[in-house]
Amino acid sequence: MNLLDGKIAAQAIKHELKIEVAQLSTEGKKIPHLVAILVGNDGASETYVAAKVKACEEVGFKSTLIRFNEQEGEFHLLNKIQELNNDPDVDGILVQLPLPKQISDEQVINAIDPDKDVDGFHPISIGRMVQGLPTFVSATPYGIMLLLKHYNIETKGKHAVVVGRSNIVGRPMSILLSNNTDPGNCTVTVCHSKTKNIKELCLQADIIVAAIGKSEFITADMVKEGAIVIDVGITRVPDSTKKNGFKLKGDVAFETVAPKCSWITPVPGGVGPMTIAALMMNTFHSCMQKN
Ligand code: GUN
Repeated sequence: MNLLDGKIAAQAIKHELKIEVAQLSTEGKKIPHLVAILVGNDGASETYVAAKVKACEEVGFKSTLIRFNEQEGEFHLLNKIQELNNDPDVDGILVQLPLPKQISDEQVINAIDPDKDVDGFHPISIGRMVQGLPTFVSATPYGIMLLLKHYNIETKGKHAVVVGRSNIVGRPMSILLSNNTDPGNCTVTVCHSKTKNIKELCLQADIIVAAIGKSEFITADMVKEGAIVIDVGITRVPDSTKKNGFKLKGDVAFETVAPKCSWITPVPGGVGPMTIAALMMNTFHSCMQKN
């Protein structure tokens, strides 16, 4: 069993970006600028946004964190997005999801200029990805592709089973893996909550991407010998022995599944750091279109 170590791969990507940004700076060119919007005080969202801002600092990007309180109306958020769309200094805009109930995710995503949609959630970005055109690919599936690339994992002709069909992970992942690219060129099966024979399908998989949001859903009896397993899950499970009161669990029962795998991602330290590295890549490319 080999680890697909997201910390190492993300560090390598951020190192390259740091060099590129330093070069831009030397040449007096524009430095990438990411704006993150956080509505409310959800603990997990706070952690994710803080990690994104920290990554910007690491690679030398400019970052701005804009906070709205939990009660904020959609109108104010949409106005702010419009202002950022029109600001030539801003390369990337991300609104951390989930949003409070009174705000429509869809309206907010649709309001972001597709040229600044570094989360890759806008229907135009998704449409372009489906057609295999250059675009911003959402950070988690893009990060997984970068991770497969970093470890030179051969995916061509393999059967990938993606468990989960969310707009953010499962759906784009299934498309990227089936595209005529490297990594890619997989035969893809998408499983979801209504799939009847998930275990049988997973047993046929050369590659499993677990993105269902249920801790330890993928057990050893669902995984064939030598499979490659990518765990997107990150559930907070109460744990009184931990200082913060919880531990992070993936969608894969790592201890029993890992011995069967040729490659597997740990949680934490697998897909998570890659998601952030991918966001940095998208922001960098957005900036380069202006430089
Ligand atoms: N919530 C969970 N994942 C993401 C992400 O990749 N981007 C944003 N904006 N919100 C999220």
